[in-house]
Amino acid sequence: MKKTDLLCIGTALVDSIIKGFDPTPISASGYRAASGSLSVGGEAVNEAATAVKLGMRTGILCFLGEDPAGDMILHTLQDLHIDTSLIIREKEHPTPVTTMFVQEDGTRRSITNLAHRYNFHPERFAACFRETSAILLGSLFRAPFDDPQIIREVLQKAKEAGILIFADTKLPNFRTLSLADLKESLPLIDYITPNEDEASYYTGQETPEEMAEVLLSYGVRNVIIKLGAKGCYFRNANTAIRLPACAVPAVDATGAGDSFLAGFASELLRGASDAEALRFGNACGALCTTALGATTALKDRSQVLQLLDP
Ligand SMILES: Nc1ncnc2c1ncn2[C@@H]1O[C@H](COP(=O)(O)OP(=O)(O)OP(=O)(O)O)[C@@H](O)[C@H]1O
Ligand SMILES: [Mg+2]
Repeated sequence: MKKTDLLCIGTALVDSIIKGFDPTPISASGYRAASGSLSVGGEAVNEAATAVKLGMRTGILCFLGEDPAGDMILHTLQDLHIDTSLIIREKEHPTPVTTMFVQEDGTRRSITNLAHRYNFHPERFAACFRETSAILLGSLFRAPFDDPQIIREVLQKAKEAGILIFADTKLPNFRTLSLADLKESLPLIDYITPNEDEASYYTGQETPEEMAEVLLSYGVRNVIIKLGAKGCYFRNANTAIRLPACAVPAVDATGAGDSFLAGFASELLRGASDAEALRFGNACGALCTTALGATTALKDRSQVLQLLDP
């Protein structure tokens, strides 16, 4: 038996969240806010946390500095029983910390820094791909997956290991790649899951149908466009499926996309069809929005099944 069902590779970070930020200064350099808190995040972390709650044997391959932020992420992952044996830790590079300001009116500003750009070279650890059934890239277009050669090496090695490849996406922060830059890698991806903004940005199209068409023309086998409160759109060479969102009282959409993908991948690995897994992922995304935080609301698989079939 393989060591894990799913290995999530990519971003792990700490969010420093300032809520109720008042932009009017109270002194030459002082400002007020309602609260300040730290929370563990990043796509690979959110995806791994969701997959493990859904009963998957889950591992993470990410970078952490040897600093308090890195310790905080590691403890969170260990408490969740995620396999942390592949985590890379280095003294010379800090753990990425995102600073987020949320104003009273809900307007958000999120600041990334050079630590988010550090590339830990996941391709060097590709021998471990034989020890998992699938890898999940969180996210394509962000470090370490903002370098065409590294993306190609990771995907080629995963293909050689004969495992399934899921890739989430993000808008660029430091380095910008186009789809053409990834033309050799895109045909190796089994499922790509951009949200509507990301798909529009990279394809230059306006409708989910057109966006999916462009991604398929680059050789991606299956495309899922996440449409927020409008649900999702699935497309491959044979099928197109549009699902409306599950009706839920949404309070915070942070991490909904990560929950969607982890749910979709988990269910597919359990043997579900694309259509069944899509329905399940759609419900995971919806559940995620019902509480503050990226991984708070979703507790286990039965809760998702209950939402689908009350
Ligand atoms: N308001 C909502 N009501 C119900 N379901 C939702 C809602 N918002 C999101 N979802 C579900 O979650 C999925 C993913 O959400 P979204 O499109 O916001 O992804 P995303 O932008 O990648 O999210 P993030 O990057 O913040 O994790 C949607 O496709 C949908 O299934
Ligand atoms: Mg997303």
